[in-house]
Amino acid sequence: MSPIHLLAPEVADAIAAGEVIERPASVVKELVENAIDADARRISIDVRGAGRTSIRVGDDGGGIPADELPLAFVRHATSKVTALSDLDAITSLGFRGEALASIAAVADVECASSGARVHIRAGEVLERGAGPLLTGVTVEVRDLFANVPARLKFLKSDATEVAAIKDVVAAFALLHPHVRFQLTIDGRSAISSAGDGDRRRAFASVHGAAVAAEMLDIVGPPLVTGMVSQPRLSRGSRDGIVLAVNGRPITSRPLAYALEECYQGRLERGRHPLAAVDIEIDAAFVDVNVHPAKREVRFREEGAVFAALQRAVRSALGASEPVRYQTSPPLSVVAAARGYEAQRGVHGAAVLPLEVASPSEDSRAMLRPIGQFGPGYLVAEGPQGLVLVDQHAAHERVLYNRLLERLRTGLGASQALLMPQAVDVEPALIAAAADHRADLATLGLEYEEFGPRSLRITAVPVEMPAGRATAAVQETLTALSETRGDQGMHRAAAALACHSAVRFGDVLDIAEQRRLLSDLESADESVTCPHGRPTRLIVEWQELKRHFRRNY
Ligand SMILES: Nc1ncnc2c1ncn2[C@@H]1O[C@H](COP(=O)(O)OP(=O)(O)OP(=O)(O)O)[C@@H](O)[C@H]1O
Ligand SMILES: [Mg+2]
Repeated sequence: MSPIHLLAPEVADAIAAGEVIERPASVVKELVENAIDADARRISIDVRGAGRTSIRVGDDGGGIPADELPLAFVRHATSKVTALSDLDAITSLGFRGEALASIAAVADVECASSGARVHIRAGEVLERGAGPLLTGVTVEVRDLFANVPARLKFLKSDATEVAAIKDVVAAFALLHPHVRFQLTIDGRSAISSAGDGDRRRAFASVHGAAVAAEMLDIVGPPLVTGMVSQPRLSRGSRDGIVLAVNGRPITSRPLAYALEECYQGRLERGRHPLAAVDIEIDAAFVDVNVHPAKREVRFREEGAVFAALQRAVRSALGASEPVRYQTSPPLSVVAAARGYEAQRGVHGAAVLPLEVASPSEDSRAMLRPIGQFGPGYLVAEGPQGLVLVDQHAAHERVLYNRLLERLRTGLGASQALLMPQAVDVEPALIAAAADHRADLATLGLEYEEFGPRSLRITAVPVEMPAGRATAAVQETLTALSETRGDQGMHRAAAALACHSAVRFGDVLDIAEQRRLLSDLESADESVTCPHGRPTRLIVEWQELKRHFRRNY
């Protein structure tokens, strides 16, 4: 690394300006980053008084040469960047030469390295001289914001500031398993990672062993590394999601969204995964010089990054236990069509569009129907315990999967309507329909244009009761016109599934219940309906035993 030097004005001016130190956690972040840039293997962080009293960070990295120590605290003095072009491909966490200067401007700071020591308060050097001859650097930051009462006033409660500090250290510990992190808060150990390179062990030090055991390794494509949680492990907030680029934690809503999209159908709405995902990318393809606190980045090829992330996460999840009760091949389209044949005569009456179960399927079933409860819940006994199923949500999932399968294979299954139905729709929806005519036919929806504002529906999916065509068409085409790409067809399939499914309130006889439960058992991603509502609630045997005190 080059010596610390002042950046030329044109380089300094090109750096994203703004507030660097917003709260105690920002101090911790900057000092930890400096230690990582110096190739430290051990970083200790000691926090007192929620970071207002003192923050002490020590590392065993390369250190700062004694004669450069005061310069390190000068604004725009850095050893990491020299020319303007260096900003186009930043490979270190620091690049602005601002962190130490910004910290020293709002606190009382003592820094020791290479046998030298400097003491600065509110930006002024109070002392410099000899210090202990230790490896690495030690920085102690006291009385943070004492000279900036306005900042002090805006700090949150101690608990919140401490939580923010823990989050910062946790993120680095998860992303840098080769570095040993020790965080103590008021003398108590809060995080202590092994630094042996084992990511699962790093997870255990942050989230506990039970959580760590449930994490899935991302092993798939290169460039994306880390761990994501099994779908059965989730949280009520996004706080457990750590995203990073080249080892730098970042915040990115779209990237977090891309990650969460991989859990669709596996997590109930409002639940979020835990993750620590690092994207390794050529420094020239990512601009980190966009946010004053270095929290955000800009990708040159955003789409490719998102796709790589999703591929990696999906393949990790693919290796997880499938979210279903049992495995069985999906019903073939032919079988689905045969099922329809058997019921053709009564279609359209108050009959259920559920195929008749064959005995062989019955004997495989693991969910034993007990009956129907309330307006639309099925009660069943399963291997895990008592299972309550929302009959509409469950049937919606089964049909949705089946429709997607038809789209995938191109093998459709429709029923011609004896009496074609005219539906009034907006011209925009007619255009949307025309754009996707072939796919709609594969889903079972066929029509003729009938004037500028009207369609004549000639066929619907085999599972759809005929009387529901009008509402289904409206919703399906609206979904198509509002969403582009594959997602549009998926939403259309969800709308058709919703209108074809048994309703909450329909009475199902025991054979129909058995059929639906068996279909649900073998459906992928059966935990939720296509809209994210849960399909079932399990009361586990253990829970029953505990409740009735039968566990001894
Ligand atoms: N823990 C450390 N170990 C070794 N060198 C350090 C350490 N901390 C700071 N330095 C040196 O001091 C310089 C200034 O640090 P500072 O954090 O202010 O700026 P930076 O890391 O270069 O950029 P940024 O403002 O983006 O963090 C660094 O460039 C580095 O040379
Ligand atoms: Mg720095």
